[in-house]
Amino acid sequence: MLLPSLLLLPLSAVAAPTLQQTPFAITGSPIPGVNWDAFSNHTLIPLNDGNFVPSPAFGVGSVWKGQNVTELVLSALQSGYRHLDNSPFYGNEQFVGDAVRASGIPRENLYITTKFDHFNDDDVEVEFQKSLDKLGVAYIDLLLIHFPFVAAHDPAGVWASFESLHSRNLVRSIGVSNYDVKSLKALLALPDRTVTPVINQIKYHPYVQLQQGAVIELADEEGIRTAAYSTLTPLTSETGGAVDKVLTKIGEEEGITEGQVILDWVKSQGIAVVTTSGNPDHQREQLAVFGKDFPSLSKAEVKELEKAGQKHELKKGKPDH
Ligand SMILES: *[C@@H]1O[C@H](CO)[C@@H](O)[C@H](O)[C@H]1NC(C)=O
Ligand SMILES: *[C@@H]1O[C@H](CO)[C@@H](O)[C@H](O)[C@H]1NC(C)=O
Repeated sequence: MLLPSLLLLPLSAVAAPTLQQTPFAITGSPIPGVNWDAFSNHTLIPLNDGNFVPSPAFGVGSVWKGQNVTELVLSALQSGYRHLDNSPFYGNEQFVGDAVRASGIPRENLYITTKFDHFNDDDVEVEFQKSLDKLGVAYIDLLLIHFPFVAAHDPAGVWASFESLHSRNLVRSIGVSNYDVKSLKALLALPDRTVTPVINQIKYHPYVQLQQGAVIELADEEGIRTAAYSTLTPLTSETGGAVDKVLTKIGEEEGITEGQVILDWVKSQGIAVVTTSGNPDHQREQLAVFGKDFPSLSKAEVKELEKAGQKHELKKGKPDH
């Protein structure tokens, strides 16, 4: 059901991009090109604006909200992650900034995502500047509207501000998060819109395929990529479900862990991933799925996991994990 998304922008087209393919060739741009050589252990997913997004990202939401994540982010960088996924809502951008500085990794060897949350009624420019200051960077690679409701006071104005940051080369790519079919259609229908979001970052794992299927399909039709968070839910907060046996079986067949099976299943659908594991062994194990030599699931295995997951579909309205 979700596999046709691969036809849109085949991952096979994502060989190491050459410099000519890198974004923002505009002379004098404050955004240098990404040094893709630093992302050789990631999967590069092509976006509708000519850029790429590296998968996986290391995210500091979830259980890390409000925490001093400096050590955590340093461990993720040590494990090889180069894409950091942030949000003002997580309340820890300054700690990520500290980690980035302490790491000594050049900015163009990192890909940094943050989000607009409409905190304290701040407008896009004000909140964006705060994120830059806290993260200690001069530009953002990917800026997302965190939820449809944070733009509900002025959907056209918020997207126009995103387009403005984008055209001023302060943001490499712009997109959304947690959009459903209705909110995504509304954004796409804005009369003055000139830029299509590159990504919709949503909760996605084997137990929400049916619930998320329609918005993923709409995104595919519009050339919008999907990124997934809470991907490992079947192994964390929803254990004992219908995919457990399948994960064990495929894991044994392929010689990989159950977590790697789920991540590879998501990757096989052309969907980017945000992971949040604090355990360095898990961080490395999860990143390995996105490297070049990882043994991918067969089509039959992908299908088997898809079917098993659909048997245990979580009800809409169940609280987020
Ligand atoms: C990719 O992973 C390998 C193996 O862990 C490591 O030796 C190499 O330095 C990594 N490459 C980058 C660019 O991080
Ligand atoms: C956050 O953690 C880092 C690393 O452990 C530490 O150096 C720093 O002082 C902490 N920051 C705050 C504000 O507690």
